[in-house]
Amino acid sequence: MNTLETISKRSSIRGYENRKLTGEELEVVLQAGLMAPTATNRQELHFTVVGGDEQCLKELDDEKNALRGLSGLEHNFYYEAPTLILISGETDFRWSEVDAGIAVENMSLAATELGLGSLIIGCIYDAMHGEKKAYFEKMFRIPEGYDFKIALAVGHRAVEKEQHTFEAEKQISFL
Ligand SMILES: Cc1cc2nc3c(=O)[nH]c(=O)nc-3n(C[C@H](O)[C@H](O)[C@H](O)COP(=O)(O)O)c2cc1C
Repeated sequence: MNTLETISKRSSIRGYENRKLTGEELEVVLQAGLMAPTATNRQELHFTVVGGDEQCLKELDDEKNALRGLSGLEHNFYYEAPTLILISGETDFRWSEVDAGIAVENMSLAATELGLGSLIIGCIYDAMHGEKKAYFEKMFRIPEGYDFKIALAVGHRAVEKEQHTFEAEKQISFL
């Protein structure tokens, strides 16, 4: 696939096969995150790779649901993907969130290129920044002075989803 083709094939996948990624697949996705540009080449992002069956993700899911007053959901927040990658960044660096956004899209496109599905996940933000912030940061080995920015679920697709539609004329101005 060329880059534009890969961009057009990426969509949010909310259903995964019960099949782990190979070490090679995981490495390609992580390298895509590491190869993403960062402001002033600061490289202030940290990537925490978590297996989908880890108990700590159940705790995080429960906390997210408690904060949102949700219960009895059919899926956890990462739709039972075999792998979740949490991206954290330096708390006091002006561009950490932008850099994390660039890295997560790079990884999502790499996953698409490999024929995998992925989902960018922000819904755990409040849980990661709430009362249990220090507890979760320790659990997910987020470095001192860093905080959670965004996450990516990755795995083999069990469902398909069309690319979202958009209205270019509303979103673009030419001067
Ligand atoms: C910053 C960000 C956070 C997101 N958080 C979630 C999330 O927590 N849960 C979810 O199911 N989708 C999440 N999404 C996926 C969006 O809902 C999705 O990208 C959007 O609906 C467009 O669909 P597409 O990705 O298939 O093109 C997030 C996307 C972005 C960019």
